[in-house]
Amino acid sequence: MKQPVKKMYLLAAVACLIFLCPLICRAEAKKGLLVYDSIYGSTPEVAYWIKAIIGDEQPLDVKRVDQVITVSPYDYVLIGSYSKWEKPSPRIYKFVEKYQNELPKKQVCYFLTCGDWDETMILKVPGTGAHQIAGRNYLYELMTKYPNIQPVVIAGFGGRQVASALHGPDAFMIWMLENLAKEGAAWSGLDIYESLVPERVEVFGNEVRQKVLGLEPLADVQKYRGFWQSQQPGSLTDPAKKKYTVRAYTVHTATDKLFYSRFRIKSDLDGAIKLISAWAQQNGVTLSEQRKTFFNVYYHAVKNSGGKDMTMHVVAAVMPDDPGAVHLSLRSYDSPDARKPLEEAINKAEQLLWADGRKIEGR
Ligand SMILES: Cc1cc2nc3c(=O)[nH]c(=O)nc-3n(C[C@H](O)[C@H](O)[C@H](O)COP(=O)(O)O)c2cc1C
Repeated sequence: MKQPVKKMYLLAAVACLIFLCPLICRAEAKKGLLVYDSIYGSTPEVAYWIKAIIGDEQPLDVKRVDQVITVSPYDYVLIGSYSKWEKPSPRIYKFVEKYQNELPKKQVCYFLTCGDWDETMILKVPGTGAHQIAGRNYLYELMTKYPNIQPVVIAGFGGRQVASALHGPDAFMIWMLENLAKEGAAWSGLDIYESLVPERVEVFGNEVRQKVLGLEPLADVQKYRGFWQSQQPGSLTDPAKKKYTVRAYTVHTATDKLFYSRFRIKSDLDGAIKLISAWAQQNGVTLSEQRKTFFNVYYHAVKNSGGKDMTMHVVAAVMPDDPGAVHLSLRSYDSPDARKPLEEAINKAEQLLWADGRKIEGR
């Protein structure tokens, strides 16, 4: 073959390769399953919201847990549940148990709807010791039970409760809790209680896009909030009552049952832990770590007063909807007479943690 003709063929072959390569080489889109469980219907609304953020062009099946017969076809699995009695649903536990050998080979993410989003919360009701509740805390037991499943992203969004829809036993238990909780209940007096933090759904959806699918996060992700917004009032008899009074980030209260300080500082979790340790050292407080996760830490902070050990409950948490901030809560459940030294210690903690311009004002 003559040299110029040979060159022409070569050039044509290279050009073909350049044009065809993106088609031949394009990785097949990852196939996803979003499996959810719900009693009252708010979790699937969030499920389809997440699907919208991930993008209709991505193959993502959304199925209620009892409609899933296999996880084999999927590259990644998003597992979502309502929370009941501080856990995902029993059917979600069964789903994870059933596929416990397959799920570790896939990318898995967990999300919850729940009543309480504040991951610095402690619940103390008769019959149980004071313990952590809310948001991602409810995933702790499931994740501990199945440690081979290492989720890529986890989230606890808040959720919705429609008082008139609650089934008899649920209504009774919710009423009981409302009356037993030392710190009161946020849904008191509302027909519809909605606590969902939309930014958390948006961060979760965008993290799945980035960390699971290798896509860019959506810059205009807020455009999908319509999946949640509804026109119904929080109270039928009192239109002034909102579905949810946004809980203050900064609180300092003293009641007969509780001395409580909650606030935010500019820091990361490690920085906050160092400050808490310094406070403990300076104030004769012994820290006993109850639980540490990548997003929060819970201490019993024990101070001896008059020969008696008294316990403060201290939690520091970072939240995806408030980057750059650490939320802290310090509590004493002792009676006003007994807790004076603890009140003093908590006031000192405020001073130390807020120093050097760390305190974040507002809300
Ligand atoms: C009986 C009952 C128990 C609940 N327990 C908790 C709980 O322990 N912690 C929490 O944050 N939310 C709790 N919730 C709130 C629900 O998780 C929340 O309303 C959720 O959005 C319901 O989801 P669904 O509408 O998909 O069923 C409970 C709700 C009911 C009715």
